[in-house]
This record gives sequence, structure tokens and C-alpha cells, in this order.
Amino acid sequence: AAECFQRGSLSGKHVLINAGPTREALDPVRYISNHSSGKMGFALAEAAVEAGARVTLVAGPVNLPTPARVARVDVVSAQDMLAACEAALPADLFIASAAVADYRPANCAEQKLKKTPGSDDGMTLTLVRNPDILATLAAHPQRPWTVGFAAETHDLMTYAADKLQRKNLDLIIANDVSQSGIGFNSEDNAVTLIDRALNSSVLPRASKTKLAREIIARIADLMATTNK
Ligand code: CTP
Ligand code: CA
Repeated sequence: AAECFQRGSLSGKHVLINAGPTREALDPVRYISNHSSGKMGFALAEAAVEAGARVTLVAGPVNLPTPARVARVDVVSAQDMLAACEAALPADLFIASAAVADYRPANCAEQKLKKTPGSDDGMTLTLVRNPDILATLAAHPQRPWTVGFAAETHDLMTYAADKLQRKNLDLIIANDVSQSGIGFNSEDNAVTLIDRALNSSVLPRASKTKLAREIIARIADLMATTNK
């Protein structure tokens, strides 16, 4: 049969993207989280729609409008985000852009925590590991073509390549978050794509919208050539 291959197209594909931070509750009014804005993931969702995909966007707590024609599922914690991502399968492509909290409080208090009366003591929190959403989907029986991000402040390429191999990804998007004005919680970004053969390709600083379109086009072409 003739192969209908159009450069950069995700036509007919179901694309699952997670985005934003997660929040890990300590008690009814307090949580542990991070500064992720969700902008990169939302821009990727928009670019995937433009490329012809049906898009499911699983979002942590962010302050962003839902891009047109995107099916959005809002979640709070890492555990909820994993469940929502698994529920969205099967997908042809999964892009893990979320800044998932690595740990959560071992217990969530039912009532608001109180200081101990008459004491100036500090307090120690016990944290436990959250599930790895990306590694879980990459090992799933319905495994999508799987893309991760690596946010690093040093030894970017070493750590990114290590995450690609350890989590069994098809592609990793390495993000140097030590530079100000790019990456975490900013308008622009600059990334390096690393594939399974450890070929790397630099995408220079651009708006997250422009960069997202380029990333989606590269992924679409890689998916077509790696036959998935
Ligand atoms: N990730 C995930 N679930 C987690 C932690 C991370 O799905 N519990 C995903 C992120 O969405 C990202 C990739 O794994 O796509 C790498 O995240 P990062 O924080 O850079 O790496 P970690 O594997 O968490 O390792 P570390 O934070 O120790 O560098
Ligand atoms: Ca992490």
C-alpha cells in the first residue's frame, strides 16, 4: 500500500501530553509544589492540534486557557496525574512535559496541622517517592511513542541521555534550567533533542509557541521513520 507521509503531520494520531506542576497535599490547606507554568506543555498541545492530532492534555494546577480543540483533564497530585494519563490510553504519542513532584508527604493530615503549644521546635516532614509517570507509560502494554523532558542545571547531556535510556524513551528533550529567561516559568525556551541512537539536535532559543511547532514537526518525522 502507498504510504501517505506528509512532513510534520500527526493526522489521525491520538497525542497525550501532561503539563504543569503537581501539588502534594500536607493537610487541607497546605501543599508541596514547584514553579512550573505549564506553558511548554500547553504550547505542545496547540502545535499537535495544528499538526492534525486529536489531543488529550492532562494538566496540573496552572493558570492557562485550554487551547482550541484540546480535551483537557485537570488533576492535582502526581498519583491523580498518573491515573488520568493511564485512563487516556491508547495513545500514539505521549509527551511528558509535566514537572511531577518527585516526593509527596507520607501522610496527609485530615485537619490543619497545628504548632505544638509552648514549643519553639522545628518540624520534620517525612516524604515518600511518587510514581514515575513517564517510566510507567513507557513500560505499559499499550506503550505510546514516548517523549520525556530533562530539566537540569548541570551536566545536561549526560543526565538527559541517562534518563532516555533508564526510562526507555524514544526521545528526550533536554532543557538547561540554569540559564535565566528560558525554561521553567518563562516565555522562551531552548532545548536539545536526543534520540535513541543518541543523535542530538539543538533547537535555539525561541518563544515556546515557535519551539513547540518545531518539536512537534521533528517528533512527527521521527515517528514516521521509526515506523510507529
Ligand atoms: N517524570 C515523571 N514522573 C515523575 C518524575 C518525572 O513522569 N515522578 C518525568 C517528567 O515529566 C520528565 C522526565 O520524567 O518528562 C524527567 O523529569 P526530571 O525531573 O528531569 O527527572 P527525574 O527522573 O525526576 O530525575 P531527577 O529529578 O532526580 O533529576
Ligand atoms: Ca524530578
